[in-house]
Amino acid sequence: MSRVVLGVGGGIAAYKAADLLRKLTEAGHDVTVVPTASALEFVGAATWAALSHHPVAADVWTAAAEVPHVRLGRQAELVVVAPATADLLARAAHGLADDLLTNTLLTARCPVLFVPAMHTEMWEHPATVDNVTTLRRRGVVVVEPASGRLTGTDTGKGRLPEPAEIAQLANLLLRRADALPFDLAGRHVVVSAGGTREPLDPVRFLGNSSSGKQGYALAAVAAVRGAKVTLVAANVDLPDPAATAVVHVGTASELRDAVQKAAEEADVVVMAAAVADFRPSDTADHKIKKSGEPPAPIVLQENPDVLAELVAAKRPGCLLVGFAAETGDTSASVLDHGRAKLRRKGCDLLVVNAVGPGKAFGQADNAGVILGQDGSETVVQYGPKAVLAAAVWDAVVTRLTR
Ligand code: CTP
Repeated sequence: MSRVVLGVGGGIAAYKAADLLRKLTEAGHDVTVVPTASALEFVGAATWAALSHHPVAADVWTAAAEVPHVRLGRQAELVVVAPATADLLARAAHGLADDLLTNTLLTARCPVLFVPAMHTEMWEHPATVDNVTTLRRRGVVVVEPASGRLTGTDTGKGRLPEPAEIAQLANLLLRRADALPFDLAGRHVVVSAGGTREPLDPVRFLGNSSSGKQGYALAAVAAVRGAKVTLVAANVDLPDPAATAVVHVGTASELRDAVQKAAEEADVVVMAAAVADFRPSDTADHKIKKSGEPPAPIVLQENPDVLAELVAAKRPGCLLVGFAAETGDTSASVLDHGRAKLRRKGCDLLVVNAVGPGKAFGQADNAGVILGQDGSETVVQYGPKAVLAAAVWDAVVTRLTR
């Protein structure tokens, strides 16, 4: 059980922080909510107290004998501020301490995660840009807001990312305090995710059970580390991660086109998608019906190997990362298959993981070994997919040359 302080700023997205609080407590954390006075205009103290099982105050005078701002800051293993308003970012950047939350931010020595939500103009204002830069320089993690519908009828950048995504980042920081440095700034990374589907007719397809969770975790972590992220998603039923450009595709051929286009200017391509090796030679344009005769066999033809094509056309300075989901067999272990695949594929890094019933596909957790062409082997123990994602980006960052 980790002690988490959830700071809530005074924005309409405060209601989403109630869902985040639930997700953090369900993950087993002991969460104390510290709203600002204006946050309490949106969601009342009773909601925070009932969901967190802790008393709630916005000022330093309540229970002053316990000196709450010092106690909360010292005991916290993580402070999450969601939503972080422009005002809160400004007060934190300037070290102001005019309420319980900003006092707690000054006494805390643990990782701090700010999740901004505001109107696009406020996010893009030079004052906010400077404040975010200041906070990031100090090692504070400031997430880029998501894009989409804002409070009114307008749309743009400024939405609070989904609570599940914020909880994923919070859990990552609790596991690995150094997991989210701002070290991919200025880099363009392409991540493929999910599993391709090859249609037999308008309603049937040959597919696989990849959920896309590992690829989405890679994209989300890269975005928080400052990268411009293009996420090519094949049949993934997950909300778009914040600050990523998502291209939705269906088949291997669509995925290949989207990845190749995005890869033209990329520094890194991570092929986490499960790409179908074969597709039916013919796709019926109508639903295939029973005819009373034995069904016609499905004739397959090979799909292009997207990763192999990227390796063949590799630009200097562009790093290519493959994934290998292996089961191991009587001839070789999962890792031996991975080492052979790294040699065969020629990519810079290959992340090998074991798949099978209850392993990797569709699960929230994963384990893996990151193999490098240089012979390096980094073992990542079983844990949240974001932890494996952070380790992959660590391996990438040390190899980026330009
Ligand atoms: N891959 C790809 N295009 C394909 C198949 C796979 O780009 N048509 C990529 C995957 O995204 C992954 C890597 O290649 O990053 C390894 O995928 P995998 O299916 O394990 O490799 P295969 O070469 O298909 O080997 P196997 O014979 O084990 O299926």
